[in-house]
Order: sequence, then structure tokens, then C-alpha cells
Amino acid sequence: MLLEKMLQSQGFGSRKECQRLIKEGHVRINDAICDQPKQKIQTEHLAFQVFGEHYQFREKIYIALNKPQGFECSHQPQYHQSVFALFPEMLIQRNLQCVGRLDQDTTGLLLLTDDGQFLQALTHPRKHVAKVYRVTTADPITPAQLESLTSGVELRNEEGIYRATNVQQLAEYQLEMTIHQGLYHQVKRMIAAVGNKVVQLHRQQIGQLTLPSDLAESDWYYLSEQDIQLAKTQDLL
Ligand code: URA
Repeated sequence: MLLEKMLQSQGFGSRKECQRLIKEGHVRINDAICDQPKQKIQTEHLAFQVFGEHYQFREKIYIALNKPQGFECSHQPQYHQSVFALFPEMLIQRNLQCVGRLDQDTTGLLLLTDDGQFLQALTHPRKHVAKVYRVTTADPITPAQLESLTSGVELRNEEGIYRATNVQQLAEYQLEMTIHQGLYHQVKRMIAAVGNKVVQLHRQQIGQLTLPSDLAESDWYYLSEQDIQLAKTQDLL
């Protein structure tokens, strides 16, 4: 791949801007300045520097974020900051997208990617990728509520019955539940349908990929190949 094209693909600006970065000597590979925009380079396992910062070439990007409260999963947020404000400009330039959405007040595991196929694989309604949530409620949780979540509830404006699996009470006001679709406000609506109210919501897991316990709020990391496969693991429904 041409050096200028490689830089552009990684989010360093327009072709012209990338040419300029190269010609001005700001780009290095193996510690040597590369000032020829048309130089051909191998992208496999490529590491490079721009303004002394180290980067690895990534054909596609797959990211796990520990989403904090008060951030919207939108490029055009309405009332809060955008989760995209938590990422460097070069990733935004690559058209980073959220894989599904979390409400502004929901915390926890949010995946982001620029790979449309990966996004589809995790969000298409026919793909049943489990999502595990920890829910804190306004009122004490009753056995009848746990039973109703498991046996299924009707949701206004939706067809069918929505069931949670692995419903477990963790404390008087806290439960964990797994859902298998990604409807708008699904957990909040299911909890409301059984007569309680969500006061805090945290996503713990997508597919078989769990939020690392040492990942601080607002921190993120690039998924490994194994993480990507874990996230894509579908339910045996
Ligand atoms: N269900 C909700 O109600 N909100 C979320 O953010 C995610 C799932």
C-alpha cells in the first residue's frame, strides 16, 4: 500500500494532509523518517510513528469501552456529551460507530467499530447475541418479578413476549439478567412491565465477552482476535 494511503486509512486526514505529514518528515517506520508519500509499504504487522507517537496499522478497529454515565451513543448528542468525545480524532475520522446503543445513564461494556459486518453480526435482530445487565431497582425485588422476567413480558408497541434468562437476584434491590434482543430501552421496559423501576443499569457482558474488572470508567482497549470471537458468540436458542 502507498504510504500516504496507509496514513489516510488510519485516520490521519485527507490524502493531501497525509502527503504533507510525510513530506515534512513527521512519519517514521523502524525509526527511519519516510518522506516519500508514494513509497510502497507492507501493512501486515506494521508499526509506525507520527510526531513521535507510536501506532500499529489496523485494517479495522474493534474497541471495548467502559461507558460512564452522562454520555450519549450518538455523533450528534442532544443533551449530553457524545461517547465519541472519549476517543482521539483519528479514530473518529475512521467513522467509528457504536455497536448498538446504551442509554446516556447506562454504564458498562460498549463496543465500537468501523467494521460494518461486525456491527451487523452483533446487532441484526436475527442474531441472538446475549447481553448481560446488572440492574438496580427503585423497589425491593420480589420472587414474582423474577419469575415474570423469566417467563416473559409483553412490551407496548412490540410483538411477542420478551424473556430474560439467567435472572438472579444479587441483593434486595439488585438483579442480573440476560436479554437476547436489543430493543430501545429494553431492560427498563421489561423491569417496568413487572412493576418495578430501574434506577441504575450496567452492562456486564456481550456474547461471551465480559467487561474487564480492571477497566476504569471511560477507559477503552482494542479487542484481540479472541475477544472479537467471544463477542460474536451467539446464544443457542
Ligand atoms: N436496556 C435499557 O433499557 N437501556 C440500555 O441502555 C440498555 C438496555
